[in-house]
Amino acid sequence: MTKRAGHVISNLSDLLEREAQIDRQVCGIALDEQLETRLAEQGAHDPDPTPYFVLEDLFAHYSLGPDSHILDVGCGTGRVLAFFVREGLPGKITGIELDPRLAAVAKTWTKGRDNVSVLQGNALDLDLSCFTDLYLFNPFDPNILQQFIEKVECEMTRACTIVHMSDNGDTWRYVGRDGWTEVASGSFQFFRNERGYQVKVYDHPQHYTVWHYAGNGLA
Ligand SMILES: C[S@@+](CC[C@H](N)C(=O)[O-])C[C@H]1O[C@@H](n2cnc3c(N)ncnc32)[C@H](O)[C@@H]1O
Repeated sequence: MTKRAGHVISNLSDLLEREAQIDRQVCGIALDEQLETRLAEQGAHDPDPTPYFVLEDLFAHYSLGPDSHILDVGCGTGRVLAFFVREGLPGKITGIELDPRLAAVAKTWTKGRDNVSVLQGNALDLDLSCFTDLYLFNPFDPNILQQFIEKVECEMTRACTIVHMSDNGDTWRYVGRDGWTEVASGSFQFFRNERGYQVKVYDHPQHYTVWHYAGNGLA
């Protein structure tokens, strides 16, 4: 994903337009919500979608197959689900979203797709045992993340891969826990177009970490 036909992406607004164009091709609507969350008192963060070029890099860390089942923790309007559909990835993907309005948008455009589902609710209330891979893009406050990690440890009987994008300041919550191994980390700040020109996407580098959790062995 580097350009519109005949148009080199040279600034952020070009990139956002290109992202919206891909959304419309896949989902029929643009998914970018330039809004503040209405659920901050519940620890929710704003519904920014992950850029497609970031997802291309991050999804390379999953080993997906027909039995894979990814959970997007806080799916917003469904950008990660759209990426999954666009790439024709194997297995299934489920998004869970706390905000009913955002979940309704994601439910509407994913309706009728066998391998994509959307739940409205709190990720802390969802049974995680059927998922093989988790994706988090800065969904919630640190105290909720702490509860979520403990929930993974209780419910994930099998090994799983967790990709946590924008975990700036939160990475340490995974460190030193039994069964967790850091497999990769890095950061995103710029989109590089096909001429090598860098477009600033984030004001500050957004750190990510990829973790392998061994499972609690209770299966
Ligand atoms: C930064 S957005 C990420 C959207 C999407 N995952 C993506 O990467 O494009 C984080 C989303 O997590 C949702 N969220 C926050 N807390 C949640 C919770 N406890 N359960 C489910 N969703 C939650 C927010 O409402 C928000 O839409």
